[in-house]
Amino acid sequence: MIEGNEEVYIKLKENRPNIVFNVTEGINGGSREAQIPAILDLLNIPYTGSDPLTLTTCLDKARTKEVLSYHKIPNSKFTTSDNYKSLDIGEMNFPLIVKPVCEGSSKGIYSSSFVSNKEELINEVRRITENYNQTALIEEFLPGREFTVALMGNGDDVKVLPIIELSYGDFPDDLAHIYSYEAKWIIDTIDNPMQAFTCPAKISKSLEQIINRTALQTFKVLNCKDWGRIDLRLDTDGIPNVIEINPLPGILPDPRENSSFPKAAFASGLTYNEMINEVLYLSAKRHGLA
Ligand SMILES: Nc1ncnc2c1ncn2[C@@H]1O[C@H](COP(=O)(O)OP(=O)(O)O)[C@@H](O)[C@H]1O
Ligand SMILES: [Mg+2]
Repeated sequence: MIEGNEEVYIKLKENRPNIVFNVTEGINGGSREAQIPAILDLLNIPYTGSDPLTLTTCLDKARTKEVLSYHKIPNSKFTTSDNYKSLDIGEMNFPLIVKPVCEGSSKGIYSSSFVSNKEELINEVRRITENYNQTALIEEFLPGREFTVALMGNGDDVKVLPIIELSYGDFPDDLAHIYSYEAKWIIDTIDNPMQAFTCPAKISKSLEQIINRTALQTFKVLNCKDWGRIDLRLDTDGIPNVIEINPLPGILPDPRENSSFPKAAFASGLTYNEMINEVLYLSAKRHGLA
């Protein structure tokens, strides 16, 4: 184990591993998930997962949506703001959702992030810009069913793991139907895991096909490598829209932690170790080491 801190360069240089299983999320700045991969590229040491460009792009949800839009992959209308005093949401319709542009694990996303009017919007943009010192991403709210899709592979050989549905039927009445910080870290605990996940999702064959196609296309246009997880939600017409892409998915091992990538891997018949080894193998193969 090598910690991704300031000593990492020396340790990697001295140890020269054949390959690194990268799980470093970083601490500082919008390029934080790309920093160790960039160092590994400099040292010419192979590593699992996506390269710095993909990791940095996907951490920036607005830039990701620009790429998706260019490739005509459905995603909700959006704008960004650094100033709650001069908000212009153009043609967008309430309700909206306001998020920090560069976070993950539901950081900064609370029930209050779901906004139904201008006043709530102003408060949320102010909260994000002042508390998180970053741009606020404002999106049209997708009201439909929510799914998350894990993928493994490269090139023409990418496998979609069983689709996970997140449902909000058992949610407390006072919470918005989003996978917020409250949902992920307060309601959902090890002792009382949230019963909101169904995997494989109970959906029609045609919806499954559309979700798989959208997920595969997204993985490809963002140039994801080895593995990744994509969040989607249906719009008012029932069309799956991409919410965000996680090229470095969370992999908490304990099933009670409800970590989505392992959940999908378990449903596909893999154990935790087999899942890790599969990602390692896919990466080694891509680097000509397997
Ligand atoms: N445009 C949207 N419409 C509806 N729900 C959304 C939208 N964006 C985010 N959400 C909800 O908020 C949750 C967290 O948003 P997401 O961008 O995936 O953040 P994180 O990177 O923290 O996982 C999603 O799982 C979904 O429930
Ligand atoms: Mg997400």
